Amino acid sequence: MTLPGDFLWGVSTSAFQIEGAFTAAGRQPSVWDAFPAFGGQDASVACDHYHRYREDVALMRALGVNAYRFSVSWPRVLAGDLGFYDRLVDELLDAGIAPVATLYHWDTPVSVEEGGGWLDRATAHRFAEYAAVVARRLADRVALWIPVNEPAMVTLLGYATGQHAPGKALLFDALPAAHHLNLAHGLAVGALRAAGARAVGTANNHTPAWPASPEDAGAAAAYSDLHNWLFADPLLAGRYPDWLADRLPVRDGDLATTAAPLDFYGVNYYNPTRLRAPSPGNPLPFELVEITEHPRTGFGWPVVPSGLTEVVASLRNRFVDMPPVYVTESGCSYEHSPADTARIEYLDAHVTAALEAGVRGYFVWSLLDNFEWDSGYSQRFGLVHVDYETQARTPRASFHWYRDRIGR
Ligand code: NOJ
Repeated sequence: MTLPGDFLWGVSTSAFQIEGAFTAAGRQPSVWDAFPAFGGQDASVACDHYHRYREDVALMRALGVNAYRFSVSWPRVLAGDLGFYDRLVDELLDAGIAPVATLYHWDTPVSVEEGGGWLDRATAHRFAEYAAVVARRLADRVALWIPVNEPAMVTLLGYATGQHAPGKALLFDALPAAHHLNLAHGLAVGALRAAGARAVGTANNHTPAWPASPEDAGAAAAYSDLHNWLFADPLLAGRYPDWLADRLPVRDGDLATTAAPLDFYGVNYYNPTRLRAPSPGNPLPFELVEITEHPRTGFGWPVVPSGLTEVVASLRNRFVDMPPVYVTESGCSYEHSPADTARIEYLDAHVTAALEAGVRGYFVWSLLDNFEWDSGYSQRFGLVHVDYETQARTPRASFHWYRDRIGR
C-alpha cells in the first residue's frame, strides 16, 4: 500500500450527478435515468461535465486542490467506454491533482438491476468483474480507490424506503442488499489489488445517532446499527450487529471477504440524527425527530461540526485496527448566492474539526452545483455555481475561501 504522504485537500463529485451525456459512446441506461426527481428534472445534461471536464479540471487547478474524487460510470464501462476516464485522469495528473476513483456511486446499469440488482448475490460478482476492467485500465494512475459509495443510502433509500432508485420499499426485506453491497466491496478490493491498485478504501456515510431522551437509547442504537454499523462492522471487524445477522444472506467465508484489509477509511459526514422509540403500529424500531437547536442548511440539515468529531471518535473506539481516515465528503447546500458566507462558515468549522481529529484529507462535496438525486437541481452544494441554461461556471466566495485555506 502507498497512501499519499501529503494531507489531501480535495473536492468530490459523482458521475451521474455531473456528467450528463446519457447516450455518448453507447452508454447503457442506469436506474437513475428515468427515476422521478424534483419538478420532473433529470440528469441527461446535468453539468455536461462529460464534454467540459477540461474546464472543470482547470477550475480545480485554480482552486489549488491536490486530489479529486470522482466516480466511474458502470453504464459507460459496460458499453466499453473507458476513454473518458483515461482522458480525465491524464488531465488531472497534468494539473498535479491526485485522482481518487469511486467505482459505484449509485448509477446501477438497468441491465444489472433487471438481473436482480443488489438483492441478488450475483451482482456482487458482476461488480468485481467491472472493478477489474476499470483497474486494468487506470491502476497505474489512480492514487486511491473506493469501490462503493455509501452502501447505507443505497440500502435504506433505494431498497428499504424507495425514495431513491430503484425505488423499492421493502423495509427489512431490503437487508440482503446491504450484505451484497458489502460483499461487492470486498470482492472488488481483491480485484483492484490483483490489478495493481495502489491504495484501496471505502466511503461510508456516518451519522451520530442521538437519543431524544434517555428512554430512547434503544431506538438510537437500532438506527445506528442500520445506518453506521451494518456497513462498517463487516469491513473493519468481519461481523454484523447481532440482531441483524440472522436476516442477512451470509455464506461461509463472506465475512473474511468483506473484511479484506483496507489502506484507508473514508467518512462522508453531513449531520447527526435524533431518534425516539417508535409509536405503536410503526414497523420500524425507531422514529426520526427533527434537530431544532442548531442552524440549518438550505436542505434543512442541522449544522453540527462536532458530529464529525463524534463520528471519527466512535470509529476509533469501536475498531482496534482503524485505518487512516479521510473525510471523503463534507459540504452543504444553500440557495443560489455567489456570496455564500454560510457555506464558508460551515466548511471552516468542519475543516477545523477534521484537522483536530487527525484525518489524512478533506474532500468538499462538491466542486460544482449538481443533480442532487430525488431533489434534482433544487439543492446547490457547489463551491462553483452552475447556470444550467448556459453551463457557465462561476466560483462562489467559498471557492476563494477554500483556495486560501489550502494555501497552495
Ligand atoms: C452523499 C452522496 O454521496 C452524494 O451523492 C450526495 O449528493 C450528497 N450526499 C449530498 O446529499
